[in-house]
Formats: sequence, structure tokens, C-alpha cells
Amino acid sequence: MPTGSRYNRRMTDARPRVFVTRALPGTEPIARLRAVADVDVWGEPRPPTRAEMLKRAAGADALLTMLTEQVDAALLDACPSVRWVSNMAVGYDNIDVAAATARGIPVTNTPDVLTETTADMAFALLLAAARRLPDGEAAVRDGGWGPWSPGWLLGHEVHGATLGIVGGGRIGSAVARRAVGFGMRVLYHSRHDAAGFPGERVALDVLLAQSQFISVHVPLTPETTRMFDAAAFARMRPDAVFVNTARGGVVDQSALLQALRVGTIAAAALDVTTPEPLPADDPLLTAPHLIVTPHLGSATERTRIAMAALAVDHVLAMLSGARPRHLINPDAWSDSDVPVTSMESIGAETRADAAAGDDLAARRRR
Ligand code: DGY
Repeated sequence: MPTGSRYNRRMTDARPRVFVTRALPGTEPIARLRAVADVDVWGEPRPPTRAEMLKRAAGADALLTMLTEQVDAALLDACPSVRWVSNMAVGYDNIDVAAATARGIPVTNTPDVLTETTADMAFALLLAAARRLPDGEAAVRDGGWGPWSPGWLLGHEVHGATLGIVGGGRIGSAVARRAVGFGMRVLYHSRHDAAGFPGERVALDVLLAQSQFISVHVPLTPETTRMFDAAAFARMRPDAVFVNTARGGVVDQSALLQALRVGTIAAAALDVTTPEPLPADDPLLTAPHLIVTPHLGSATERTRIAMAALAVDHVLAMLSGARPRHLINPDAWSDSDVPVTSMESIGAETRADAAAGDDLAARRRR
């Protein structure tokens, strides 16, 4: 049990309070939450400011956050009632997990449900950058479409090319499966051998030197921050197309701007930047052969509803004392925590999650 754990605090008979930092997609997830808790939803399309976040999180038992909210030690200390955090994203670099663990606060995320959708986006960017779709579309609209010409808007062939995937996780693997379907050779780099990954595991230098396409699928951590810097771009092929759907922080954007300007690499497509939103006058947007989209990786209706449902499942599980399915910091979990809602009052799906969590806990005890 971490020092300063909040587990020992007991709930009163009052319904638990949950602060949700944005209106959730779909009607069903929020309805399930409202059935057992007093739910305060931040109703504006923009995220709450820090001051608004501190104000609304104060007094909450659980937070259901987006990737736009910074949940750090200062916030957790300012909101001592908070016992659980459910992040509606697979990435959780917005949360100081060590600070949460030190305070005995379990944190969850939403993997799996967005894997295929995010892989689709990475592949869409790869194809769009390779075949210069934005240049062609802009030419059609601005009167630049002249007679067919054999040398106009020539792109890069995708079929038969080598794709290097940085990161051996679920989304990288889903991108690799798509690449195999396109007849690509797939390399990947990961600290560990990824069982079943449809590609050959190689050192990062080998991947950077051999790949015509490079797609990034690593979490943002101190180790991955700005890992794509001037030295990394210098190791890439001059015909390389760089795709990032992970987090903007893994790229040194000044180095990328320079690499595109001088032709160190051929093109880049980014769904994530630093900061987000990227101001329209950011120097990066002056780079040639660059596509930037506004963090759309998981942006389909079905996937966003699934993410919301899973984030709600996690809150309901934790409120009931059941171990949530996707617990980032198991050290913060205690099976002896006192349930604050009865299992009968939560949905069947959540009961199944809780049962899965119980199985896991039992397995770990054996
Ligand atoms: C995530 O879940 O981390 C994604 O970036 C959201 O699209």
C-alpha cells in the first residue's frame, strides 16, 4: 500500500461524485454513470482551464478525464477527495502516474477499442503523403490542374516498399497487418520481441536506414521525448516518408522542419503535434511535403463511444470496489478497498469486467 493512500477513507452514504471533463459521445455511457453517481460534466467543447479543473475536481471522488487534462501531483493534492482517475485515451502522458500511485489513486486507460481505428488513420496518412493527395486536391480547387503531364505530382510507391514501425504494441501491429496487405516489407523496433508482430524486429538504426516509410507507435515517456531529432532524421533515407499518430512530443519539430526544407527526408504526415492545437502561424506549417491533421486517430463515432463506454466501465468498477480491466498502476490497487456502490446497481458489462478483474487478482495471488 503506497504511503498516504486514500484507500482507508470511508465513503458516506452519499452517492459518489464524478467529474467528467467533457460531454461523452453516445447516450448510454453517461446514463450508466448517472445511475449510480452524481455526475458533473464539463459541458463546453473546449477543455476546462487549470483553474476550472481545480474548482470542479475539488469534492469529486472520481475523475473521468480526456488527454487534454493534466492530472499531476499539485491537482491531486488540491483535490484530496479524488480516489480514482479514468482517462478516456490509451495514452496517459497527461497523468502523473507516479504521483497518483504514491497517493494510492488507481488510474485506468482505454486500450484495444481504438487500435484498428488509429491504425486506419496512420495508414490513411501514409497513403496520402506517399501519393501527394493534399497537393493534388489543392491543385484541383485553386485552378492549378493543367493538362495531364507525365512528370506532374509524382509520389512514392507504397506496394513493395519497406515500412518501419517504431513500437511493438497493438496499434503498430495493426498498421503492420495493413502493410502486409499492401505487399510491403515490415520492420519494427521495440525493446522486447512482440509475439505475433507481422514483421522483422531490428535495431532502430537499421529501421531508420532501410525504411521508405516510418510510422511511430510509442507512448510519450521521458525516454521517447524528442527521439525523432536531427540525428534520427539524418539516419533516414532521402525518400523516407515519416508518419506520426502517437504523440507530438516524440518529435523535435524544428528538426523535422529543417529535414523537410533541405530534403533530408521526402515527406511527413502528423496527426499529433506540440502544442495541440498547433497555431496556424506555427513555423512547422511552412515545411514542404507536410500533412498535418488535428489528432483524429480515434475519431470515429463508434470508436469514441466505445472509448467512453470503457472509461465509464472503469469508473463503475472502481466505485464498486472491483479491479478495473485496464489498470495502469496496479501498485495503487487494494482488493480490501471498501465498495461505494453495490454490484447490483451497475450494468452487466461492468459486472463482467469486474469478474475478469477478480480472475486476474486471483491469478496474481496464486
Ligand atoms: C489516445 O487514446 O491516446 C489517442 O491519442 C486518442 O485519439
